[in-house]
Amino acid sequence: MPLQVIVGAQWGDEGKGRIVDWFAADADYTARFNGGDNAGHTVTVGNKIFKLHLIPSGIIHDQTIAVMGNGMVINPKTLLEEMDSLSRADISVTPERLHISHAAHLITPAHLALDRAMEIARAAGNIGTTGRGIGPAYTDKASRRGLRMADLLSNDFTDRIRDHIIEGNRTLHILGVPELDATKISDEYQEFAARLKPFITDTSCELHSALRTGKTVLAESAQGTLLDVDHGTYPFVTSSTTTAPGVLTGLGLGLDAAREARVIGVVKAFQTRVGSGPFPTELDGEMALRLRGTGEQPWDEYGTTTGRPRRVGWLDGVLLRYAVRINGISELAVTKLDILCGLEKIQICTAYRRGQEELTDLPFGLMDLSSYEPVNVIVPGWHEKISDMRTWEELPTAAQGYLDKLATMAGVPVRLVSVGSERKQLISR
Ligand code: GDP
Ligand code: IMO
Ligand code: MG
Repeated sequence: MPLQVIVGAQWGDEGKGRIVDWFAADADYTARFNGGDNAGHTVTVGNKIFKLHLIPSGIIHDQTIAVMGNGMVINPKTLLEEMDSLSRADISVTPERLHISHAAHLITPAHLALDRAMEIARAAGNIGTTGRGIGPAYTDKASRRGLRMADLLSNDFTDRIRDHIIEGNRTLHILGVPELDATKISDEYQEFAARLKPFITDTSCELHSALRTGKTVLAESAQGTLLDVDHGTYPFVTSSTTTAPGVLTGLGLGLDAAREARVIGVVKAFQTRVGSGPFPTELDGEMALRLRGTGEQPWDEYGTTTGRPRRVGWLDGVLLRYAVRINGISELAVTKLDILCGLEKIQICTAYRRGQEELTDLPFGLMDLSSYEPVNVIVPGWHEKISDMRTWEELPTAAQGYLDKLATMAGVPVRLVSVGSERKQLISR
């Protein structure tokens, strides 16, 4: 299958990184098409833990070429740090292996400062952003005044970055935030430009030819469906298209590329969210602590990028079915099933209630989810430790029943089941 797409079916952090790692073993190209270093994708190989924020997770497999598409917003400073950190871990990050689109947008210190200042100005209504400048960078893109990777190649880049910071300072001044040193930043960005120049290319053209010649391209989404700028729980969303159709615009591919695409939706066996916004199946108290963990294990529910504790709740079948529809998901990869082990009973939300109405589909999509109550069913749990199981048949009957219920609600099959964070802790059906 030439184009394979990995998307998050919830609010991000579903375990996309570890699922990408599994598919990347057979991929020629591995590509990010949206977002920036707001993402944090974890891949665990033996005792090595890789936390990728910008570079596609598939780079860990040395036969792949990694692509950062035009739909991304890239902070050159964090990118260079990530490249250095991968090189120290013996992952080769050369211009032969990492290709960055000339049309991807740059994140600058002005975007970082504006992101933080605007969150403070929103006060109680804040979005809970990652503070990585994502919103302001996409705002500049849509306002047609953003800086792109290709600008790093131009002779007058010094002037462009300086003008951009001076412009940003005007807004920072209005928001009452200290202004930035345009000359210092422009000098720093000159150094970034010098290092990044050899990596900048026409990735749209490259991926188009790759698909035409039968190569496999693995597209890796950042964030999740419910954070999509159009289809998520607006305004508590990120600023990019996180869903599968974003692969086409974010990588510069035509509709023909999607004709035979396989879309794998990654879904955590329960639900988590970091940042503000509605969460109908949210739990608190002891059960929340049980699902979140205390932070002692690397996979406990604390943000990969910001370290914030994630909000947790039961799996939401209404939102899962919505994610299948919006993305065109053809199959599911379920992660963190091991975390449910030892629970007497597990709940799943199958519908929403508002007054006398019971709904399995929402009249206006995800608009104002806070007005609904979840309708939960209770299914039996299991006690057997599943982390060492590698086949479907080994799984306890109750675990199989839980996954079957999930697949029925979603209307698509469960193809992969992750029972631990390590590369090999995966069951393929
Ligand atoms: P992503 O942003 O979707 O790539 O997900 P993150 O990496 O932010 O968060 C997922 C976390 O769960 C990481 O710490 C993974 O190592 C871990 N993880 C993934 N799958 C499993 C699993 O099946 N079991 C356990 N225990 N941890 C998992
Ligand atoms: P991965 O790729 C979970 C959330 C933030 C905030 C909202 C907007 O690791 O799944 P932003 O900084 O993008 O403007 O923040 O989106 N958010 C994520 N939540 N996983 C992510 O990425 C996220 N990226 C952004 O917490 O609520
Ligand atoms: Mg993450």
